[in-house]
Amino acid sequence: MVSADEYIKIVILPFMGHGHLIPFLALAKEIHHQTGFNVAIANTPLNIQYLRSTLRHDPNPGIRLFELRFTSSDHGLPPNTENTENLTLDLISKLFSSSVYLRTPFHNALLEIVKQQGRPPVCVISDVFFGWAVDVANSVGTVNITFSTGGGYGTMAYVSLWLNLPHRKTDSDEFNVPGFPEICKFHVSQLHRFLRNADGNDLWSRFMQPQISGSLRSFGWLCNTVEEIEPFGLDLLRKYIKSPVWPIGPLLPKPWVTKSLSSNCDSLYRQLAGKEPEISPEKCLQWLDMHGHDSVLYISIGSQNTISPSHIMELAIGLENSGKPFIWVIRPPLGFDLKAEFRSEWLPQGFEDRMNKSNKGLLVKNWASQLEILSHKSTGAFLSHCGWNSTLESLSQGVKIIGWLMVAEQAYNSKMLVEEMGVAVELTRGIQSSISSEHVKKVTEMVMDKEGKGGDMKKKAEEIAEHIKAAVKDELDDKGSSIKALDDFVSSIKTRKQDLYVVSARNEL
Ligand SMILES: *[C@@H]1O[C@H](CO)[C@@H](O)[C@H](O)[C@H]1NC(C)=O
Ligand SMILES: *[C@@H]1O[C@H](CO)[C@@H](O)[C@H](O)[C@H]1NC(C)=O
Ligand SMILES: *[C@@H]1O[C@H](CO)[C@@H](O)[C@H](O)[C@H]1NC(C)=O
Ligand SMILES: *[C@@H]1O[C@H](CO)[C@@H](O)[C@H](O)[C@H]1NC(C)=O
Repeated sequence: MVSADEYIKIVILPFMGHGHLIPFLALAKEIHHQTGFNVAIANTPLNIQYLRSTLRHDPNPGIRLFELRFTSSDHGLPPNTENTENLTLDLISKLFSSSVYLRTPFHNALLEIVKQQGRPPVCVISDVFFGWAVDVANSVGTVNITFSTGGGYGTMAYVSLWLNLPHRKTDSDEFNVPGFPEICKFHVSQLHRFLRNADGNDLWSRFMQPQISGSLRSFGWLCNTVEEIEPFGLDLLRKYIKSPVWPIGPLLPKPWVTKSLSSNCDSLYRQLAGKEPEISPEKCLQWLDMHGHDSVLYISIGSQNTISPSHIMELAIGLENSGKPFIWVIRPPLGFDLKAEFRSEWLPQGFEDRMNKSNKGLLVKNWASQLEILSHKSTGAFLSHCGWNSTLESLSQGVKIIGWLMVAEQAYNSKMLVEEMGVAVELTRGIQSSISSEHVKKVTEMVMDKEGKGGDMKKKAEEIAEHIKAAVKDELDDKGSSIKALDDFVSSIKTRKQDLYVVSARNEL
């Protein structure tokens, strides 16, 4: 048997994608930091390998790794594919479907821990996509918790849309979503085509519905957000799932409040993405130093997305015509290998050269150190796909947003940023949409304006940033809401755990 300080108190189970692994790892570190608990992360062998190599750069004795047996080729996937990264949409659905086969290996891993320690861990924290883990946790006598890597509003929309498919019950493009007030209408263009086409019998519904329903039966949810920035979304979510929701975010690289040049999350991200930045972070910052306060537009639509050749052209022309300085993280367009060399023919003739000579634009191929750019005083706005990670990074630095939504819950994040927070405008939705350079120019000028609507958005973004900073304050007599939520979460699971002991002791009599 292991000694008490070796006990694994919490076991976490992230979904097999970077957008999940990274925040779950950050959650594990945060829990260990705040409580001293040992935390085990369970996942498939290749994902564990990534996590292990990251932890090698940043050793943390409080974090253990557990491999769950998984053979991708048994599930119609190419050999050694265990992560959503570089899978086509078609194969991603196979990865989702095959993930339920982790149930038995996960159950065995928990039983092994119970055997070694002579008692179960205090709780299991599983991904929303692993509804089955809630039952498994319960069966070994540990508390079942769900973690949503998204925000309150986005999670609420995602959960209710998948469970209810409200757009299928109307002929109109606009519709109500159960759990949202009547005035808060959604539009079909906000739905990814998988969801738009879902009818309850398709592959995606057959995966999503049982997994989300299973997660709704957990004891409570952790959410990667901040109470004060999303009171509305969190209120809706709490009412809908009828369980506690602890907003413990933002799980961003620490110390994110200060401007550190190398962050662990960045190095993990670089590794996961297998990319080294072509332009060094230092060079980006030097370039920003040459520009005025809040004058630069930062453009990146996420590491897993790209846009069509004509989008790239229109965006480039619109930016050039607006005359606003920009840093653009640029990738090969749709239809080309994302990891291939970027070709200058994808841009207007002479564009790179003109931008270089006039110092108006910096093109960064593939990858940039996003949080450092966002935290620079010259960065005024962020053209983003509104993935939750990028959204939190932007808000934490008080940077207003231009949305170009792609997949998942991004359109709901953007809806909240526009309607509830007033810190964003949408440029367009999806990759099928067409945009014109005039539209790009108009929106860029409006948002970068220091007066009017642009100025208003800036003020609101700065208020949100203040809330986020306050939420993670961790002083003895002055704890922010996210720190308090984590404390409350820990005492709730301990209490719940004792109740479980009492029940099982009674059952043994
Ligand atoms: C992506 O694909 C390449 C080759 O096709 C492979 O070597 C790499 O491991 C894959 N990455 C992930 C994260 O699956
Ligand atoms: C999850 O835990 C709660 C509270 O401990 C319990 O009531 C519930 O039955 C568990 N869910 C499942 C599916 O076992
Ligand atoms: C968020 O995304 C950015 C850019 O895609 C990346 O640099 C960063 O490491 C990510 N952080 C987390 C916590 O996922
Ligand atoms: C501009 O081009 C020169 C020469 O190719 C290069 O050394 C320099 O780094 C470029 N500047 C920017 C801002 O891209």
